[in-house]
Amino acid sequence: MREQSFAMLAIALLAAMVLQAQSPTYHLGRTPTPDEIKAVDTYVGPSGKELPPGSGTAKQGVAVFAQKCAHCHGVEGKGEKYLELVTRELHPFPTTIWSMINSSMPRSFPDIGVRKEQLNTDQVYALTAFILFKNGLIREDEVMDAKTLPRVRIPTRDPSLDRLVQPIEGRTD
Ligand code: HEC
Repeated sequence: MREQSFAMLAIALLAAMVLQAQSPTYHLGRTPTPDEIKAVDTYVGPSGKELPPGSGTAKQGVAVFAQKCAHCHGVEGKGEKYLELVTRELHPFPTTIWSMINSSMPRSFPDIGVRKEQLNTDQVYALTAFILFKNGLIREDEVMDAKTLPRVRIPTRDPSLDRLVQPIEGRTD
Protein backbone atom coordinates (compact mmCIF):
# COMPACT_ATOMS: atom_id res chain seq x y z
CA MET A 1 0.00 0.00 0.00
CA ARG A 2 2.76 2.32 1.03
CA GLU A 3 4.84 1.43 -2.02
CA GLN A 4 1.85 1.96 -4.21
CA SER A 5 1.24 5.51 -3.01
CA PHE A 6 4.94 6.20 -3.38
CA ALA A 7 4.76 5.08 -6.98
CA MET A 8 1.71 7.30 -7.53
CA LEU A 9 3.59 10.25 -6.12
CA ALA A 10 6.57 9.55 -8.36
CA ILE A 11 4.28 9.42 -11.40
CA ALA A 12 2.56 12.66 -10.41
CA LEU A 13 5.92 14.37 -9.98
CA LEU A 14 7.13 13.13 -13.33
CA ALA A 15 3.94 14.34 -15.00
CA ALA A 16 4.35 17.75 -13.41
CA MET A 17 7.93 17.98 -14.64
CA VAL A 18 6.93 17.05 -18.18
CA LEU A 19 4.09 19.59 -18.14
CA GLN A 20 6.38 22.31 -16.90
CA ALA A 21 8.93 21.54 -19.57
CA GLN A 22 6.22 21.80 -22.19
CA SER A 23 4.55 25.01 -21.00
CA PRO A 24 4.97 27.72 -23.65
CA THR A 25 6.77 31.00 -23.07
CA TYR A 26 4.63 34.00 -23.93
CA HIS A 27 7.28 36.71 -23.55
CA LEU A 28 4.80 38.82 -21.64
CA GLY A 29 5.49 40.82 -18.49
CA ARG A 30 8.68 40.64 -16.44
CA THR A 31 9.85 39.58 -13.03
CA PRO A 32 8.83 42.21 -10.45
CA THR A 33 11.64 44.07 -8.70
CA PRO A 34 12.09 43.61 -4.92
CA ASP A 35 10.68 47.13 -4.39
CA GLU A 36 7.57 46.33 -6.39
CA ILE A 37 6.99 43.18 -4.35
CA LYS A 38 7.50 45.12 -1.13
CA ALA A 39 4.84 47.65 -2.17
CA VAL A 40 2.12 44.99 -2.38
CA ASP A 41 3.41 42.55 0.24
CA THR A 42 2.04 44.42 3.25
CA TYR A 43 1.13 41.45 5.45
CA VAL A 44 2.24 41.76 9.07
CA GLY A 45 2.55 38.46 10.92
CA PRO A 46 2.12 37.56 14.63
CA SER A 47 5.64 38.53 15.69
CA GLY A 48 5.21 42.01 14.20
CA LYS A 49 8.68 42.02 12.67
CA GLU A 50 7.30 43.58 9.48
CA LEU A 51 5.78 46.56 11.33
CA PRO A 52 7.04 49.92 10.04
CA PRO A 53 8.21 52.86 12.19
CA GLY A 54 5.40 55.06 13.47
CA SER A 55 3.09 55.17 16.49
CA GLY A 56 -0.33 56.11 17.79
CA THR A 57 -2.61 56.05 20.83
CA ALA A 58 -6.32 55.31 21.22
CA LYS A 59 -6.81 58.97 22.09
CA GLN A 60 -5.39 59.98 18.72
CA GLY A 61 -7.53 57.36 17.03
CA VAL A 62 -10.90 58.68 18.29
CA ALA A 63 -11.34 61.43 15.71
CA VAL A 64 -10.07 59.35 12.77
CA PHE A 65 -12.33 56.49 13.76
CA ALA A 66 -15.36 58.77 14.02
CA GLN A 67 -14.64 60.27 10.63
CA LYS A 68 -13.57 57.25 8.59
CA CYS A 69 -14.85 54.09 10.30
CA ALA A 70 -17.85 54.74 12.56
CA HIS A 71 -20.51 54.77 9.85
CA CYS A 72 -19.76 51.11 9.19
CA HIS A 73 -18.42 49.86 12.52
CA GLY A 74 -20.39 52.08 14.96
CA VAL A 75 -19.08 55.04 16.99
CA GLU A 76 -17.98 52.69 19.78
CA GLY A 77 -16.93 49.92 17.42
CA LYS A 78 -20.21 48.16 18.16
CA GLY A 79 -23.58 47.38 16.69
CA GLU A 80 -23.52 49.04 13.28
CA LYS A 81 -24.08 47.52 9.87
CA TYR A 82 -20.77 45.69 9.59
CA LEU A 83 -18.42 43.72 11.78
CA GLU A 84 -18.29 44.63 15.44
CA LEU A 85 -14.76 45.56 16.44
CA VAL A 86 -15.50 45.37 20.15
CA THR A 87 -16.04 41.68 20.34
CA ARG A 88 -15.15 38.39 21.99
CA GLU A 89 -13.90 37.18 18.66
CA LEU A 90 -10.94 39.49 18.18
CA HIS A 91 -8.12 38.24 16.00
CA PRO A 92 -5.61 36.27 18.08
CA PHE A 93 -2.83 38.75 17.27
CA PRO A 94 -2.98 42.55 17.54
CA THR A 95 -0.63 42.71 14.55
CA THR A 96 -3.33 41.09 12.38
CA ILE A 97 -5.73 43.90 13.27
CA TRP A 98 -3.02 46.39 12.26
CA SER A 99 -2.38 44.52 9.04
CA MET A 100 -6.07 44.32 8.16
CA ILE A 101 -6.62 48.05 8.69
CA ASN A 102 -3.44 48.92 6.83
CA SER A 103 -4.19 46.78 3.80
CA SER A 104 -7.93 47.11 3.41
CA MET A 105 -9.66 49.81 5.49
CA PRO A 106 -11.63 52.00 5.19
CA ARG A 107 -13.88 50.31 2.67
CA SER A 108 -15.89 52.33 0.26
CA PHE A 109 -19.64 52.63 0.44
CA PRO A 110 -21.68 51.32 -1.41
CA ASP A 111 -18.83 49.45 -3.11
CA ILE A 112 -17.91 47.51 0.01
CA GLY A 113 -15.35 45.28 -1.66
CA VAL A 114 -13.17 48.26 -2.60
CA ARG A 115 -10.85 50.27 -0.38
CA LYS A 116 -11.71 53.95 -0.24
CA GLU A 117 -8.35 55.46 0.66
CA GLN A 118 -4.94 54.67 2.05
CA LEU A 119 -4.31 55.63 5.69
CA ASN A 120 -0.94 56.81 6.90
CA THR A 121 1.10 54.59 9.24
CA ASP A 122 0.44 56.66 12.39
CA GLN A 123 -3.30 56.56 11.70
CA VAL A 124 -3.15 52.76 11.43
CA TYR A 125 -1.34 52.55 14.80
CA ALA A 126 -3.84 54.97 16.38
CA LEU A 127 -6.86 53.07 15.01
CA THR A 128 -5.47 49.72 16.15
CA ALA A 129 -4.87 51.28 19.58
CA PHE A 130 -8.46 52.59 19.59
CA ILE A 131 -9.86 49.11 18.91
CA LEU A 132 -7.62 47.50 21.56
CA PHE A 133 -8.62 50.21 24.08
CA LYS A 134 -12.34 49.74 23.36
CA ASN A 135 -11.83 46.03 23.97
CA GLY A 136 -10.33 46.85 27.37
CA LEU A 137 -6.85 45.58 26.51
CA ILE A 138 -4.74 48.75 26.74
CA ARG A 139 -5.02 52.23 28.27
CA GLU A 140 -6.25 55.19 26.26
CA ASP A 141 -2.85 56.88 26.31
CA GLU A 142 -0.71 53.78 25.76
CA VAL A 143 1.56 54.26 22.75
CA MET A 144 1.35 51.51 20.14
CA ASP A 145 4.36 51.06 17.89
CA ALA A 146 6.43 48.27 16.34
CA LYS A 147 7.68 47.18 19.77
CA THR A 148 4.61 47.56 21.99
CA LEU A 149 1.85 46.37 19.67
CA PRO A 150 3.01 42.74 19.28
CA ARG A 151 3.23 42.49 23.07
CA VAL A 152 -0.47 43.17 23.64
CA ARG A 153 -1.98 39.85 24.57
CA ILE A 154 -5.42 38.97 23.25
CA PRO A 155 -7.02 37.03 26.14
CA THR A 156 -9.15 34.82 23.91
CA ARG A 157 -6.12 33.56 22.00
CA ASP A 158 -5.54 29.83 22.05
CA PRO A 159 -2.35 29.50 24.17
CA SER A 160 -0.89 27.09 21.62
CA LEU A 161 -0.52 30.09 19.30
CA ASP A 162 1.66 31.98 21.78
CA ARG A 163 4.81 30.43 20.30
CA LEU A 164 4.23 32.50 17.15
CA VAL A 165 4.88 35.74 19.03
CA GLN A 166 7.88 34.45 20.98
CA PRO A 167 10.59 35.99 18.79
CA ILE A 168 9.57 39.47 19.83
CA GLU A 169 8.37 38.80 23.39
CA GLY A 170 11.86 37.61 24.21
CA ARG A 171 13.42 40.76 22.82
CA THR A 172 15.32 42.90 25.26
CA ASP A 173 15.67 46.19 23.34
C1 HEC B 1 -17.90 51.14 4.13
C2 HEC B 1 -17.85 50.31 5.32
C3 HEC B 1 -16.57 50.22 6.10
C4 HEC B 1 -15.76 51.25 6.52
C5 HEC B 1 -15.93 52.74 6.26
C6 HEC B 1 -14.73 50.64 7.33
N1 HEC B 1 -14.89 49.28 7.39
FE1 HEC B 1 -13.75 47.97 8.45
N2 HEC B 1 -14.80 46.43 7.70
C7 HEC B 1 -15.86 46.54 6.80
C8 HEC B 1 -16.23 45.23 6.34
C9 HEC B 1 -17.32 44.91 5.35
C10 HEC B 1 -15.36 44.32 7.00
C11 HEC B 1 -15.29 42.81 6.83
C12 HEC B 1 -14.32 42.67 5.71
C13 HEC B 1 -13.82 41.37 5.41
O1 HEC B 1 -13.99 40.44 6.19
O2 HEC B 1 -13.20 41.30 4.31
C14 HEC B 1 -14.49 45.11 7.84
C15 HEC B 1 -13.51 44.56 8.67
C16 HEC B 1 -12.70 45.31 9.50
C17 HEC B 1 -11.75 44.75 10.44
C18 HEC B 1 -11.48 43.28 10.67
C19 HEC B 1 -12.43 42.77 11.68
C20 HEC B 1 -12.30 41.28 11.84
O3 HEC B 1 -12.53 40.81 12.96
O4 HEC B 1 -11.95 40.60 10.89
C21 HEC B 1 -11.16 45.81 11.07
C22 HEC B 1 -10.12 45.72 12.18
C23 HEC B 1 -11.72 47.01 10.51
N3 HEC B 1 -12.66 46.67 9.57
C24 HEC B 1 -11.36 48.28 10.89
C25 HEC B 1 -11.79 49.44 10.24
C26 HEC B 1 -11.26 50.76 10.49
C27 HEC B 1 -10.22 51.09 11.54
C28 HEC B 1 -11.91 51.60 9.65
C29 HEC B 1 -11.69 53.09 9.47
C30 HEC B 1 -10.39 53.49 8.97
C31 HEC B 1 -12.85 50.82 8.87
N4 HEC B 1 -12.75 49.51 9.26
C32 HEC B 1 -13.72 51.35 7.96
C33 HEC B 1 -16.48 47.70 6.41
C34 HEC B 1 -15.99 48.97 6.63
